[in-house]
Amino acid sequence: MYKIAVAGTGYVGLVAGVCFAEVGHQVTCVDIDESKVNVMKSGVSPIYETGLEELMQKNYAAGRIDYTTDYKSAYRDADAIFIGVGTPEQPDGSANLSYIATVARQIAESVENDCLVVVKSTVPVGTNDKVEQFIQDFLVNDVKVEVASNPEFLAQGSAVHDTLHAERIIIGTESKWAEELLMKLYEPFNLPIVSVNRRSAEMIKYASNDFLALKISYMNDIANLCELVGADVQDVAKGMSYDARIGNKFLNAGIGYGGSCFPKDTKALEYIAKQHGYELRTVKAAIDVNTDQKTMLYKKASKRLITFNGLKVAVLGLTFKPGTDDLREAASLENVPLLLEQGADIYAYDPVGADNFTKVHPEGQHGKGSMTYVSDVEEALKDANVCFIFTEWGEVKAVTPGKYKELMRTPLVYDGRNIYRIEEMQEAGVEYRSIGRKA
Ligand code: UGA
Repeated sequence: MYKIAVAGTGYVGLVAGVCFAEVGHQVTCVDIDESKVNVMKSGVSPIYETGLEELMQKNYAAGRIDYTTDYKSAYRDADAIFIGVGTPEQPDGSANLSYIATVARQIAESVENDCLVVVKSTVPVGTNDKVEQFIQDFLVNDVKVEVASNPEFLAQGSAVHDTLHAERIIIGTESKWAEELLMKLYEPFNLPIVSVNRRSAEMIKYASNDFLALKISYMNDIANLCELVGADVQDVAKGMSYDARIGNKFLNAGIGYGGSCFPKDTKALEYIAKQHGYELRTVKAAIDVNTDQKTMLYKKASKRLITFNGLKVAVLGLTFKPGTDDLREAASLENVPLLLEQGADIYAYDPVGADNFTKVHPEGQHGKGSMTYVSDVEEALKDANVCFIFTEWGEVKAVTPGKYKELMRTPLVYDGRNIYRIEEMQEAGVEYRSIGRKA
């Protein structure tokens, strides 16, 4: 078993650290935030993620994982140091690499043994070459340090499962030593490993995420056309899905993809291409479709209603997808300001995302409109003039069509996730509008 340090305790770092401990390695997770470190030591996960807390507690009790702000002691004699810090998007679409640079410098100043630095964060192609050079430039002791790429494919909400049962592990290395060490680290997971060079590994991450973003935008484009020609996008998707070359996943049309990955990684790859004088037209199209798609329902509702001024608007779901409290690039963040500007009185429900949303849109008056957070769906729907569904939480899906009819002043529902069958809503007497379907 190996001694592993992990830099950064966000989704990527913390989940990786916990899973390496789970398979038997000795792990130390490093974060600059002292209070976060103390929270993790007490067995509490700083992020909402199924199964994570249990594994944190189990492995902490077994002495296989610890958390610290003292990077020097964590890096000093580690066999491998995994970097899982953020690479946020900058205004021009490029990735901000300053967190990676900080960690690289700390590693260079701390390591006393030969060690492999493994970059898990999503980084522009060629970054790992630069990180390796950067570490060499600042290296204090006479030891061997190499850099490997090992992109992460976990999705929020199923991060632990995705890591322990990954469909593939991608490792990008430039030497036999690095390749063999990474293979050994991953041996206990017993998963398929694809070993390539560093630049290909970096590219695999972007190409995979952007392909999935393209798939969603393609279905949203088809959905919009379905509405115009009188077809039903869910039936179309079902018919397509039987072709094994297309598959049955990621064919759901809706109000666009959000989250911390697809929006960022599509823009980053477009930027990388531009830097090389190439226009990545397919990805650019995916981005354009997604931008328009996010406010599709608002545009539909604006045509139907004379004004939102003074209307009670129920908003069901705020997060970018169910199973997370993450709001990054969520469609709600585009639609809520538009509705408030138009004077809507919003009653928002989200089982876990409301706390984060209040930080952006606090409860109370916002110009002509107002924002109220409620803790159950029925309170949001009571006497509402119109309802928007932005996230397909189980709690939202559980609302029967009859409830909209019974509770709302006017049962007018705009569903961005195609949760209901059109017929059931019609039968219940609900005026129902969704994405890519007749209604
Ligand atoms: C995504 C990828 O799925 C992971 O493989 C990848 O590792 C991760 O990014 C990352 O780069 O870290 P994530 O952003 O957590 O994971 O969430 P997804 O479940 O992929 O959903 C992204 C967005 O697409 C959500 O807003 C979701 O509602 C939307 N989506 C997904 C659709 O609109 N339609 C679909 O059919 C599927």
